[in-house]
Amino acid sequence: MLPLLTADENRHAQAARDFICERILAAGGWLSFADFMESALYAPGLGYYSAGAVKLGASGDFVTAPEISDLFSRCVARQCADVLAATGGQILELGAGTGRMAVTILKSLAEIGVLPERYAILEVSADLAERQRARVEALPAGLRERVVWLDRLPAPGSVRGVVLANEVLDALPVQRFVVRSGKAFELGVSVVGVGAGASASGALVTGAPAPDFAWCEGAELPSASELITALPNGYTSELCSRVEPWIASVSQCLAQGALLLFDYGLPRSHYYHPQRVDGTLRCYFKQRAHNDPFINVGIQDITAWVDFTRVADGALAAGLEVTGFVTQAAFLLGTGIEAMTIEVDDVATRARLAGEARRLLMPGEMGESFKVMALCRDLDAPLRGFAHQDLRGSL
Ligand SMILES: C[S@@+](CC[C@H](N)C(=O)[O-])C[C@H]1O[C@@H](n2cnc3c(N)ncnc32)[C@H](O)[C@@H]1O
Repeated sequence: MLPLLTADENRHAQAARDFICERILAAGGWLSFADFMESALYAPGLGYYSAGAVKLGASGDFVTAPEISDLFSRCVARQCADVLAATGGQILELGAGTGRMAVTILKSLAEIGVLPERYAILEVSADLAERQRARVEALPAGLRERVVWLDRLPAPGSVRGVVLANEVLDALPVQRFVVRSGKAFELGVSVVGVGAGASASGALVTGAPAPDFAWCEGAELPSASELITALPNGYTSELCSRVEPWIASVSQCLAQGALLLFDYGLPRSHYYHPQRVDGTLRCYFKQRAHNDPFINVGIQDITAWVDFTRVADGALAAGLEVTGFVTQAAFLLGTGIEAMTIEVDDVATRARLAGEARRLLMPGEMGESFKVMALCRDLDAPLRGFAHQDLRGSL
């Protein structure tokens, strides 16, 4: 069972739900799921990432690899050091969460002796950007002064170095579809109980019983019909058409270097596997995962797994080279996680690090479901994180 909401959470969820209900009514009674998800996550002041929920970490809704252990970010730093040694320039992190990875990477690079000219962060969440600033503030001046926050992507061709995105692609709004007789039909969101809860103009009536959201089938989604061969009626899944424009815009900034993407995901043939009948959409609330995006609106995370074949196609179309595709475990082993765990004198610290490494590496935890993809431009440096495995043939 999911934890009960506090009074504040209840108020916030109701305001977010009312906002989306009004959006649906204003749109004529049907909103694509991608638009619903966009509002639920990013509506100013109401969306999950725009408002003040704790979100990441043990006291939040979900835990990401940089929050589990700094071992993760130290490994990423090793990979960054190799690229920066070849290119010079900067690190640009997209969606930096609490800032923990940024801070750990800068400290590690200072130890290795390959600091970036600057560490730029592009964060769409004002709330998270605030937390990043507080964390960066505690760094020594020589590191702190390298960190800048951007409000948009840098100018085309202006970035040399590394672009990082950990669990950002899974936060992009997705379209959802259902299969009927070999074709895919888009699933949208409608409101039920609206008679009691809305005025004739479509605005919700204060004090009236709140309407609920319901799934509602829309028109054929040809871009999804192309993906699904021989899938049974009722098969439901997602596709993220925002991936290609996202990759294209990030790629445009990158003059030379590597874009490293870390996320849970699959090659397409596994993503649309006949047994995955209910897709990959998941919601996270106070460390519980569930499948209902229509509850706890604005106070829970909504995500979907990443179709890495789509990412690779988008990268190729944008002129990037798909240089590597490995599991998170292979990446971390290639960048030296074992030695980092063992080379510690204090027994208690060694035991703690061993436990954290297990969570990052084990197949039943994050080791296999999370993948790492390297997309490069004009880069001639070996990438140690991708040396032990090559899953590109599966894409
Ligand atoms: C699941 S969190 C991951 C945070 C952090 N990278 C980590 O691993 O702990 C997703 C992050 O991506 C950010 N985000 C979502 N869409 C974005 C976009 N289009 N550009 C940049 N950041 C974005 C969110 O605000 C949030 O910081």
